[in-house]
Amino acid sequence: MHRRPGCVLLAACLTTFAACATPPGVVSTEARSTPSTEPSPQLSTTSNPSTDSTQPTPSTTPTDDNGIGDSLFPSLGNPGIDVQHYTLALQYDALRNDLSGTVHLDVAMTDDRDEFSLDSDGPIVSKVLIDGQPAKFEAADPELLITPNARLSRGQHIAVDITYRVSPRPVKSQAGEEVGWFPTTAGAYVLDEPEGAHTWVPCDDHPSDKATFRFDLHVDAGKTGVANGALIDHTSSPGGDTWIWQEDQPTATYLVQLLIGDYTLVDGVGPDNLPLLSVVLQKDRTTMQPYLDTISDQIDFFDDYFGPYPFDRYGIAITDSFEGLAMETTERPTFSRADFASGRLDSPQQLFLSHELAHQWFGDAVSPARWKDIWLNESFATYAEWMWLEHIGMGTVDSLANAGLLGRIPGSTADPTVPEMFGYDSYEGGAVVLHALRKTIGDDLFFTLLRRWVADNKGSSRTTEDFVALANRVSGMDLTKFFATWLYADTLPAAFPG
Ligand code: ARG
Ligand code: ZN
Repeated sequence: MHRRPGCVLLAACLTTFAACATPPGVVSTEARSTPSTEPSPQLSTTSNPSTDSTQPTPSTTPTDDNGIGDSLFPSLGNPGIDVQHYTLALQYDALRNDLSGTVHLDVAMTDDRDEFSLDSDGPIVSKVLIDGQPAKFEAADPELLITPNARLSRGQHIAVDITYRVSPRPVKSQAGEEVGWFPTTAGAYVLDEPEGAHTWVPCDDHPSDKATFRFDLHVDAGKTGVANGALIDHTSSPGGDTWIWQEDQPTATYLVQLLIGDYTLVDGVGPDNLPLLSVVLQKDRTTMQPYLDTISDQIDFFDDYFGPYPFDRYGIAITDSFEGLAMETTERPTFSRADFASGRLDSPQQLFLSHELAHQWFGDAVSPARWKDIWLNESFATYAEWMWLEHIGMGTVDSLANAGLLGRIPGSTADPTVPEMFGYDSYEGGAVVLHALRKTIGDDLFFTLLRRWVADNKGSSRTTEDFVALANRVSGMDLTKFFATWLYADTLPAAFPG
């Protein structure tokens, strides 16, 4: 969730847009560029989602930046490869802030290549193996260039093992805030959206390349290491503790969870026997119980509208991060204890919890194929917040949407700039677009559309144009004019349709 100064309470924010409209350190762009005329990125959107469909199509002309043509982040992603699985075997020495180990990647080649790159900005690589054989490599941050001994052909599967070490620290994101690896007094946490993951692990750091993950975390003795998915094993020895986690659902690198500290794991059972696994600091065990207790009600509410909960388990993780952190890490969003210290379920906590849960459908199950598609995450999660607030009697979607429309900043929700990708028009301003769509096609078709979006695209990464096409199909209407007016336009109508 994006937090603006003085806007911790969305309700307060809604009456004081002027003060809330612009994120910290972000210059509001009064005059926007006209809808993008960039060449279409090398991102396929038509193939079968079950086979990780949104891989870059074979690139004959890699961009100068060694990326895959993302208009907002040209250096992210890597042509010619589709990472299918990562195994991170990492050791973290908190006292020295020293992270070391190996990352193993199962890669399917999507093109014939003499060399390929990974995103890597900071890691000091000492060895690269391809199928067990040493390969040449060159650190050219933010890229790691790898030259195999023999030409790789399209369709070939290779195993890449990278040994590295890094003294990880947060870096300034082009999107505004800091991202990457954050040391804490007792350990660390990560916040990687959008471009933080490759500052602490070499990877294909673009949401179009989702993969499964295994994490072998070796941490200081007595500490807990946490990552996405299921806890597979935990062993303790005087030299340290090892925690093994596994995420079997395709996950984007920006959605990786990694926490090290004095945590306790709390399991439970949710709707339809969904396994729940939450993570709180040991000292917070009692304070956080009300938040753990609300999870099942929220899942129960959302699955009626969005379809079955799309992952194998859920939980929340509340860490000792800076205030305002809320991130939809797959299967277990990460929050800041600073925002939950009261132990009460006031509106900020309701908003945080419902927003990040809704991202499991919108963002995590179906991810953006390009960063300019970020509204597919944030506008949908914001709309879900409004629905939850209405459900618990803390407002109505209509009034929240009206306030949202009033607060729009000139600019297209479908075409954000990097500094504004987590700004107003991607959140409240884009939820307004969804409300206008609902008013145009009616409740039944609107929620059928949302369910189809997830059911058809779960596990893959999609573009705004994919959503528009599905909206046309599901509604049986030609919504071209609607989307031109509400989604692509820089300035919106003064009132909702109907
Ligand atoms: N996806 C987050 C949310 O739920 C926002 C993350 C923004 N990125 C950041 N580095 N703070 O709204
Ligand atoms: Zn969000």
